[in-house]
Amino acid sequence: MSNPQPVLWPATDQPPENPPEQTAEVPPGRPRRFVPVPGPLDGHGPATVLAMCNQKGGVGKTTSTINLGAALAEYGRRVLLVDFDPQGALSVGLGVQPHQLETTIYNLLMEKGTTIDDVIRPTTVEGMDLLPSNIDLSAAEVQLVTEVGREQSLGRTIAPVLDRYDYVLVDCQPSLGLLTVNALACADGVLIPLECEFFSLRGVALLMDTIEKVQDRLNPKLEITGILATMYDPRTLHTREVMTRVVEAFGELVFDAVINRTVRFPETTVAGEPITRWATRSAGAEAYRALAREVIAR
Ligand SMILES: Nc1ncnc2c1ncn2[C@@H]1O[C@H](COP(=O)(O)OP(=O)(O)O)[C@@H](O)[C@H]1O
Ligand SMILES: [Mg+2]
Repeated sequence: MSNPQPVLWPATDQPPENPPEQTAEVPPGRPRRFVPVPGPLDGHGPATVLAMCNQKGGVGKTTSTINLGAALAEYGRRVLLVDFDPQGALSVGLGVQPHQLETTIYNLLMEKGTTIDDVIRPTTVEGMDLLPSNIDLSAAEVQLVTEVGREQSLGRTIAPVLDRYDYVLVDCQPSLGLLTVNALACADGVLIPLECEFFSLRGVALLMDTIEKVQDRLNPKLEITGILATMYDPRTLHTREVMTRVVEAFGELVFDAVINRTVRFPETTVAGEPITRWATRSAGAEAYRALAREVIAR
């Protein structure tokens, strides 16, 4: 009797029916690593909390939160997405109108009477829930400054539901301020989406510095889960050069999954759906599935 062979990167073994605009590549200078296809789970929780973090805006944090979450849910993982940016882009990307919300994560952080179940809402993806936010959250950043244990506010807020989920993905705001520090202080890992642009490398040193400080002072268990190259354009020498530098600097931390630049992602924001549902067989959807497999394996 032979055991079924593990499938090696089905994303590339079976090309999608509709030829994608671009096909995902492996970061240059490194052979593709083996990543098993995740098996089913017997039960759920306790959740691994991942902070999706980069103080630069427009690098794909929110897009990656939605689509990694949806891909993890496809693999049977229970996922909570936390919108921790007052802009509320994560909520919008999932079809929620932030200004119409009566309760958001702000109420959980700042008020006693609200319970997390009043605020969590399901998404169109089975197994994936959302803790929404809106512009009120920007007030929390100011108000929290004078609180005792201000850096642990998010951790206290999500603690009651960690047993129900396998992954909690926190979509951070584009700054290294108190909200982001809260996310790092309660996270098991940081996932850093990095735009394949020369200048994006500059900010990473500062981010690493903040991560080290949080590890020293607030959260020794915090690890860097990985660095995700986004907005990758395989046709340009520039992105390949940037990628080579990133791999030189961060080695194994760089995910094999690379997210190509494609208009499909802005389209999904308008649709209010993850790409895994909006364009199921697209290269973008397959790339986030590949990322989900790596995240589960790490
Ligand atoms: N791989 C990609 N290719 C092209 N556009 C993208 C890609 N990922 C994200 N975008 C678009 O870029 C903009 C910024 O992305 P977003 O995920 O909101 O970044 P951040 O949360 O880091 O600010 C959005 O309009 C989004 O639709
Ligand atoms: Mg964002």
